[in-house]
Amino acid sequence: MKIITAYQEFKEFRNTLESISFVPTMGNLHKGHMALIDKARSYDSHINASIFINPLQFNDASDFNNYPKSLDDDIALLSKHGCDSLFIPDSSILENIKGIKAPDTAAYLCGMNRPGHFDGVLTIVNKLFEITKPTRSFFGKKDFQQLTLIKNFVKENNLPIEIISVDTVRELSGLAMSSRNNRLSESDREKASKLYETLSSIKDNSSNLSNEIIKSYKDELTKKGFDVDYLSVCDPISLKDLEDFNSKPILVAIAASISGIRLIDNVLID
Ligand code: PAF
Repeated sequence: MKIITAYQEFKEFRNTLESISFVPTMGNLHKGHMALIDKARSYDSHINASIFINPLQFNDASDFNNYPKSLDDDIALLSKHGCDSLFIPDSSILENIKGIKAPDTAAYLCGMNRPGHFDGVLTIVNKLFEITKPTRSFFGKKDFQQLTLIKNFVKENNLPIEIISVDTVRELSGLAMSSRNNRLSESDREKASKLYETLSSIKDNSSNLSNEIIKSYKDELTKKGFDVDYLSVCDPISLKDLEDFNSKPILVAIAASISGIRLIDNVLID
């Protein structure tokens, strides 16, 4: 696997390639990321991944500083999964970067308590797209709002990039794979599976939902020690909370912290 850190060099390297399947990441890679690489391998094209911990998308300096780093393991995993090249830019990528303002969809769900987060995501993704000029790029459905915003951004700006969404990979307990899971204590990790259990239970009872029922699920999680940021039943396109729970499809999305570690997950009910 070829590793490039200088972004001028990457631009030149890019010119030698025809099509590119691009997987942007912030490192600390796990099975969820590998599902993106594996999906990329089903296309006959050069697979490129990037690792850059983007300070623009963190609201909290300590969250940014404590973001887990495991570069050697990341490189080994990517090579093992057949990634052809890895781009690891340094912070000079942020110099004179064009700031992107995320649209209204960014104000719901994770945007409610993380102002500017999606501006930061779109700003770096746009810059990475400018450099890597991907034919297609891969994003996980766990970050449903991010996926939606990137799809819409590409469409609105007529970028010739296909956005491929990849299913959430889960631990045996149902907990969605996340770089943050490594920071959970053993007992919190066990508890954290309650999030998917809650979403699955809402899905199984989707013909009988009401605001009171959703509130009772939320209260149950709070009793179990979660600090629930949101548990939202919303429209999967606008991401606005639904008034009529009988309309389908619906997205049920959750963000909750346990011992200060914020986890997100969602299920789509069709
Ligand atoms: O999903 C992530 O890891 C990040 O938000 C991304 C897309 C790599 C942008 O920094």
